[in-house]
Amino acid sequence: MKGVVLAGGLGSRLYPLTKVTNKHLLPVYNEPMIYYPIRILVNAGINEILIVTGGNNAGDFLRLLENGKDFGLKHINYTYQQGEGGIAAALSLAEHFADQDKIVVVLGDNIIENNIKAAVDKFRAQKEGARILLKEVTDPQRFGVPVFEGKKIIRIDEKPKQPASNYAVIGIYMYDQRVFEFIKSLKPSQRGELEITDVNNFYINEGKMEWDLLEGWWSDAGTFESLYSAGQMVAKTGANKL
Ligand code: DAU
Repeated sequence: MKGVVLAGGLGSRLYPLTKVTNKHLLPVYNEPMIYYPIRILVNAGINEILIVTGGNNAGDFLRLLENGKDFGLKHINYTYQQGEGGIAAALSLAEHFADQDKIVVVLGDNIIENNIKAAVDKFRAQKEGARILLKEVTDPQRFGVPVFEGKKIIRIDEKPKQPASNYAVIGIYMYDQRVFEFIKSLKPSQRGELEITDVNNFYINEGKMEWDLLEGWWSDAGTFESLYSAGQMVAKTGANKL
């Protein structure tokens, strides 16, 4: 299994913090944001990792992360996303790296208290399809929101005004090799992006989507409020606990 961290995009919601640097290089308490998603993968036993970056400061990732020795890695792979075509557009750049293997994808601004070892082990044993992680939240309209029929997810709505549940689809996704075929058939959404929610809905329509609840806190860090509260949570309890 291989890992992909998506750290492209322009981080416009954090302007002017992102005027001269990439959002994922900003500090979350005592470490650069990108350290947390990398550790999610490493702690789940994944050590073949691709970073998809973009924008004006791509070289700074190489200066910061080098070959990954801070994470016990011998090597890190890098690729570059031009523009801000969406999460699924950034992921499409990982097709060559994935090379038919299963992948775990982590959004570069997602931070968790614990680890995803149990879910990744289940996905290792899963013959095909995809697996997502859900977390109960008070503000589901900011996220991808699952619509349930019993325990089955029948659809995910992206940032719905009237959420069908109090759960968010967090930014950690597990896919088999068909993900790249699905991405190729996507059309840009109203916000002009290739949406990861549309990719997940492909798997749901084929009856091939599994899910787990994430234990411990989870935060994104893409807005001033969430960047601030993520830093506070890291300071209070620490992150990426084993
Ligand atoms: O955090 C979880 C949420 O992330 C999900 O619940 C949503 O379904 C999903 O669409 C996403 O929502 P956001 O609108 O918050 O995602 P955002 O545009 O902030 O992008 C999140 C990360 O994805 C960002 O830190 C880097 C990466 N990304 C994003 C874009 C738009 C890229 O690598 N390239 C891109 O073009």
